[in-house]
Amino acid sequence: MLTYEPARVEQYDEFLQLMRNHTANYLERTMELMQMTWQQFVHLLRTVGQVYGIYEDDQLAGFYWIEEREKVLHLHGLVLTGQFQGEGIGTQVLKMLESMYRGSMDAIELGVHKCNEKARVLYERLGYETVKRLDDLGFYIMQKRLSPGPSPNAKDCIRSGAKRNSGHNLVNSGYKASLRLAQIAFGKNSRYAPNVIRHCG
Ligand SMILES: CC(C)(COP(=O)(O)OP(=O)(O)OC[C@H]1O[C@@H](n2cnc3c(N)ncnc32)[C@H](O)[C@@H]1OP(=O)(O)O)[C@@H](O)C(=O)NCCC(=O)NCCS
Repeated sequence: MLTYEPARVEQYDEFLQLMRNHTANYLERTMELMQMTWQQFVHLLRTVGQVYGIYEDDQLAGFYWIEEREKVLHLHGLVLTGQFQGEGIGTQVLKMLESMYRGSMDAIELGVHKCNEKARVLYERLGYETVKRLDDLGFYIMQKRLSPGPSPNAKDCIRSGAKRNSGHNLVNSGYKASLRLAQIAFGKNSRYAPNVIRHCG
């Protein structure tokens, strides 16, 4: 049986390491683009949103990191240890979040790197749609609506002047893509956003 417990202070380093191990091929590069150090990333993990340990019969299977931002639940991370992958746990966690937030949130949102094809297929199977493609960074922003109506982020992007592609896929380019990712991941007032502009400009 799966249970979830708020992360304890001493677990943050372990969770960060787990995330590093399983996303190393793109996380390092993305942080470089955001000019973010691991220390800053740990600080975000400790201070933004909530982190929960995922337990399968009392054994730690991984963690998820969420943040309620206005009416969108942002899933910053969902990472399972190798031995617990491919057993349906990720699916259960995503379904649990859906049922927990249906009624209070309009959508669940997450970012997935294009090299993480397996995860993207899983999200699509669960009804997540790509609402933005940050081609320069190789990231897809996906959402699953929890209430009827247009995608909150699609509307937001159209207002900010991004080009519309087919369907509601949206493509940004250059530093704007890095800026968008920083804003999507850590909020519109993210202190990392200006760094991205300096870095890319
Ligand atoms: C992505 C992840 C959370 C999915 O959870 P999961 O419990 O392994 O996935 P489930 O068992 O519920 O679903 C399995 C499906 O997910 C996909 N999948 C994604 N990553 C997988 C992995 N590492 N191993 C096995 N299946 C994986 C497969 O397509 C599989 O589909 P199938 O059953 O048709 O073969 C988990 O594999 C993981 O932690 N991976 C490493 C970190 C990561 O990539 N996190 C997501 C960042 S966006």
